[in-house]
Amino acid sequence: MQTVGIVGAGLIGCSWANVFARSGWRVKVWDPVDSQRAAALSIIGHSLRDLAALGLVEDAEAAHSQVSVVATLEEAVDGVSYVQESGPERLDVKIELFRRLDGAAAPGTILGSSTSAIVASKFTESLAGRSRCLVAHPVNPPHLAPVVELCGAPWTSIETKQRASTIMQSVGQVPVDVRREVDGFVLNRLQAALLTEAFRLVQDGVVSPEDLDRTVADGLGLRWAFMGPFETIELNAPNGIADYCERYVSWFRRYQADAPPAAVWDDASWQRAVAAWGKHPSAAEIVQKTAWRNHRLAALAAHKKTQSSF
Ligand SMILES: NC(=O)c1ccc[n+]([C@@H]2O[C@H](COP(=O)([O-])OP(=O)(O)OC[C@H]3O[C@@H](n4cnc5c(N)ncnc54)[C@H](O)[C@@H]3O)[C@@H](O)[C@H]2O)c1
Repeated sequence: MQTVGIVGAGLIGCSWANVFARSGWRVKVWDPVDSQRAAALSIIGHSLRDLAALGLVEDAEAAHSQVSVVATLEEAVDGVSYVQESGPERLDVKIELFRRLDGAAAPGTILGSSTSAIVASKFTESLAGRSRCLVAHPVNPPHLAPVVELCGAPWTSIETKQRASTIMQSVGQVPVDVRREVDGFVLNRLQAALLTEAFRLVQDGVVSPEDLDRTVADGLGLRWAFMGPFETIELNAPNGIADYCERYVSWFRRYQADAPPAAVWDDASWQRAVAAWGKHPSAAEIVQKTAWRNHRLAALAAHKKTQSSF
């Protein structure tokens, strides 16, 4: 049985613990904050039982019994084949954490970071074991959204990327190879493009935020649950993608000449869009809605499992 070390037991760390535990790995979880360590086991158990109810985990109790919360970072990485760092998104924290991880973990252990937007070269350059470090960026929550972007620094070894990819596939995740460091990796660049246009349309009063959300939830997003934008446009013209481009290129060129300016993200501008949204949920309401979202995502994952790909 293989063991993973989860470093940082917040939203993402606890979800990663679920991913590895349900795939038969032993999981050691560490967080420097007492209350996070105290809560982690119950959060992970809860999410495993939720999945079991939908047939996505065979034996939630057996999986849960493989998870332990440990008192130190050194214990978390002792004897593990893989570490998934999921601490705060701050460069100084990542630099210090990776310094400690590289000092404590055995040479063969791969060190992956969940960072959303900090490239590995910024926090691994001076490490003796820098060739075994990479970014393994998940989507929230990784136990329900399997894609994981693997992006190494220029000095990350090919073997590290290959082993990380094999590990991720073996625990049911879907690795994507990001071939060179780029700010935001792939997923957040796509998200940024969509959000920037969404904020612009709402700021300009073209559409309400609610109708904009409907356009995605009841339109674009339905197809995106099982196919990407390239596959989507391939079916939007009788002769595929080249045909699609020929038909619509003049519109895309016009759009590009009128693309949203950086000013969309000026404080006064984004605050106008937030005011148009107008809702102010409490932290408790956000927790409730997150649970509802996770339940629907789990049902979608169960549905996808029963479908064949084309
Ligand atoms: N939330 C998301 O949507 C999302 C998605 C993908 C990736 N990520 C990335 O995952 C990482 C964790 O994000 P999160 O949303 O779980 O944040 P979070 O605030 O929920 O969790 C962070 C955890 O790190 C702990 N921590 C604090 N100092 C630490 C230290 N020095 N060493 C180790 N742990 C420490 C905190 O106690 C907390 O439990 C970040 O790098 C983030 O960018 C987040």
